[in-house]
Amino acid sequence: MVPHPPKRPDGDEQRVIPSAGSGHGPGRRAVLRGGLVAAAGIATTGAVAGCQAGSTGSSADASSRPAAAGPVTRASTITFRGARQAGVVTEPQPFAAFVGLDLPKGADRDTCQRLMGVWTDDIERLMAARGPLTDLEPELAQVPSRLTVTVGVGSGFYAAAGLVAHRPNWLAPLPRFGIDRLDPTWRQTDVVLQVRADSPVAVAHATRRLVVGADTLASQVWVQRGFREPLTETDAGLPFRNQFGQIDGTVQPATDGTHDPLLWIGADQQAPPKGLAGGSSMVIRRIAMNMDTWDRADRIARENAIGRRLDNGAPLTGTKPTDHPDLQAKDALGFPVIDDASHLRRAMPAAPHEHILRAPYSYDDPPAGTARTNTGLVFVAFQADPVRQFVPIQRRLAEADLMNIWTTPIGSSVYAVLPGAGSGETLGQALLS
Ligand code: HEM
Repeated sequence: MVPHPPKRPDGDEQRVIPSAGSGHGPGRRAVLRGGLVAAAGIATTGAVAGCQAGSTGSSADASSRPAAAGPVTRASTITFRGARQAGVVTEPQPFAAFVGLDLPKGADRDTCQRLMGVWTDDIERLMAARGPLTDLEPELAQVPSRLTVTVGVGSGFYAAAGLVAHRPNWLAPLPRFGIDRLDPTWRQTDVVLQVRADSPVAVAHATRRLVVGADTLASQVWVQRGFREPLTETDAGLPFRNQFGQIDGTVQPATDGTHDPLLWIGADQQAPPKGLAGGSSMVIRRIAMNMDTWDRADRIARENAIGRRLDNGAPLTGTKPTDHPDLQAKDALGFPVIDDASHLRRAMPAAPHEHILRAPYSYDDPPAGTARTNTGLVFVAFQADPVRQFVPIQRRLAEADLMNIWTTPIGSSVYAVLPGAGSGETLGQALLS
């Protein structure tokens, strides 16, 4: 797998890899100003300001509105309807909230169906810049800022729906890794919402409406908020740097269709588990980053730990982020230039299927007690099969990864990302029918 240059959008979701310094293709800014906006799936809803609160136009009106040429704006929308949910291969928007919810005691398939019915309608409206019918602040919905909401279900959902026999084998807790110090606060839940947008206002509003809309059908267990580089006219094109200052997200599977079998269930032509063709899986790991001890590491130790330069993310054996690392290279003393225990060397695939699409978000929450920081990564990975693709990578990192000196996984959960809802369909329809 090689780092890939920005891809042209494919289908109704888009992903553009930040290309600053990579020397590949147009910068994100250039892409955003041109083809991306005009591509299917993003509409710059110039008429949004004129939308009536709670209007009941056709469900697809905002997303199917002819796309105007011009920059992505706060009025831009991403299409909800389609064979796959948005928010998987969509370029990560700068703000996110992950909400874990549980079904009530005694929930059954009817509960699951009603929840999905409510969310399908509300998400479609929110993503199209129209608030849910019960929206009390509809003006907030009129500024969707490329909102996407992605729904995932955990093993508890299958149990409630009486579908355990159809649950994919991988929809189970991850093995316990030696580095884990899991806090039950961030435990596995029955369902999850991934809410992302260019604006924290849009994320907060959509999150609130969906959690309130679920009402007695599901109740919130945790919320994990995250952020990346804000996408402004002047800053666009900057790569995502995590709170350790590292460029994060350079090596990723391509999202132009080439690696679909690694990303989407059923794309490998094997018989998919019931109702999951067109779905994926989402692993959420909350990883605390110790900023105080990281402060004490010098630049050489920091670059050695990751195996990449801090200034531009190039491997220590190269000059550009997209250069292939030379794992055989030795320094003057005969030591590997890229440390055997560096994150780069330990995370890179050991088999052709060991690829995951990472969409991490930084968090920087208020610290408790005398701590100065409460900082880390909401590490999110999408893949067709987490046991086959994610677990071997995480096992290697747990066995030896210099980054473990400063990082500690404190939360872990796994969800099946439902397929998208086609016209007239409800999320999870094929699973729950
Ligand atoms: C706080 C925790 C973590 C931090 C700060 C971190 C940071 C980074 C950075 C800076 C890179 C190099 C640039 C890039 O290719 O994106 C990287 C690469 C990578 N990381 Fe992590 N990472 C973390 C946790 C994880 C976890 C939990 C996994 C999966 C189990 C993972 C999997 C990968 C993979 C697959 C690569 C690409 C390796 C390659 O093929 O070159 N990382 N990470």
